[in-house]
Amino acid sequence: MNVYELIKKKRDGLELSQMEIGFLIDGFVTGRIPDYQITAFLMAVYFRGMCARECVDLTMAMANSGDQVDLSAIRGSKVDKHSTGGVGDKTTLVLAPLVAASGGIVAKMTGRELGHTGGTVDKLESIPGFQVELSQDKFVEIVNDIHVSLIAQTASLAPADKQIYALRNVTATVDSIPLIASSIMSKKLAAGSEGIVLDVKTGRGAFTPSYQDALELAKTMVKIGDGAGRTVVALITGMEQPLGYAVGNAIEVKEAIDTLRGNGPADLVELVTELGSDMLLVSGVVSDREQAGSIIAQNLANDKGLDRLADLITAQGGDSTVLDQTDLLPQPAQKIAIRSRASGYVSAIDALEVGLAAKVLGAGRKTKDEAIDHSIGIYLKKKIGDKVAPGDALAVFYSDGDEAKIEPAQNKFLKAYAFDSNKVDPPKLIHARVTRDGVEEMN
Ligand code: URA
Repeated sequence: MNVYELIKKKRDGLELSQMEIGFLIDGFVTGRIPDYQITAFLMAVYFRGMCARECVDLTMAMANSGDQVDLSAIRGSKVDKHSTGGVGDKTTLVLAPLVAASGGIVAKMTGRELGHTGGTVDKLESIPGFQVELSQDKFVEIVNDIHVSLIAQTASLAPADKQIYALRNVTATVDSIPLIASSIMSKKLAAGSEGIVLDVKTGRGAFTPSYQDALELAKTMVKIGDGAGRTVVALITGMEQPLGYAVGNAIEVKEAIDTLRGNGPADLVELVTELGSDMLLVSGVVSDREQAGSIIAQNLANDKGLDRLADLITAQGGDSTVLDQTDLLPQPAQKIAIRSRASGYVSAIDALEVGLAAKVLGAGRKTKDEAIDHSIGIYLKKKIGDKVAPGDALAVFYSDGDEAKIEPAQNKFLKAYAFDSNKVDPPKLIHARVTRDGVEEMN
């Protein structure tokens, strides 16, 4: 096989065979095919796309490029969950223990921040002592014991994706649906769960801002899962504003704890209930959506989800007294109220700008190996639909006290807000559910 011919074939809009795709991925990972040829191939995919069969073949080639996690030693049907990335998205912190307390089995590998979106691993590391790097044996042991474990994705999981993502990131080929779908699904398939529930975000803070693109991405991932013999359900959910009120790391852990205590923000509770219900249905714990929803609601109200989070923290070396004393989480040097200069009803909060403002404040990394300051973040005081007078606090910045970061972060943050003199309703959160049987749009 000739790499030049394969690039040309894709450039001209033709389909590549399974063998041809496998040849390219294997050649790249083993160093026989250089970066510049793979980059040309990626750009050809960006413009020409891939059919469903090619997407499955690309995903399988990337999933098979490294270790496959063997979860067969865990009794019962395992369910995974993945979000395509959002701002203030602490859903996994609530959902994983809650689903485990509701009868599901969650053996989940999770990632760090990506672009303007936060990562669950960084959030977990703000819990004193919590270990995200465990051996596979320990991971399996914990899941068998308490039905939930959350660990960092290892470098040997789908290494082709890691290498390809690094190229995409610097060659303007990130926002391609076949490439995003195969990137996410290669990691999910290699991570071993039988059922997968996907949270595909739409809106300014998402990788696929337009609804049509989010729908296309969801359909592609469901087809890939189906082709690989897994049960995949995708919800398309809004990222028109940050999820909940907290954006950062420790600050999001605190909001997740409050949610498991039954005091969560309405949008986060709605999302957790919907995704949690799908996780219970996909695992076969229940067969009825209403029943699934009421089990989730019950375990939010009776603290069973919170108790399971305590078990999870203890099992992974952390200090679970943090649940009752949240001031044991990293605390900021300074809290600064950011006040509105405008009045009216909040009509939009650009989640992308809020995510970037949090990064300017220091909540993220500037280089890939930098340590993160877990105490930094933004706590929103006003969300879409809230009434605001000039001088009202729109948010509180959790800052390290570095003045040089505060002003640019504030300028960026204030630009995220828009106001209307007329009353505004909060935006729809759950847009659609995609399964192998089709698309169910929500009213
Ligand atoms: N998340 C991923 O894992 N891969 C992408 O390409 C985009 C988001």
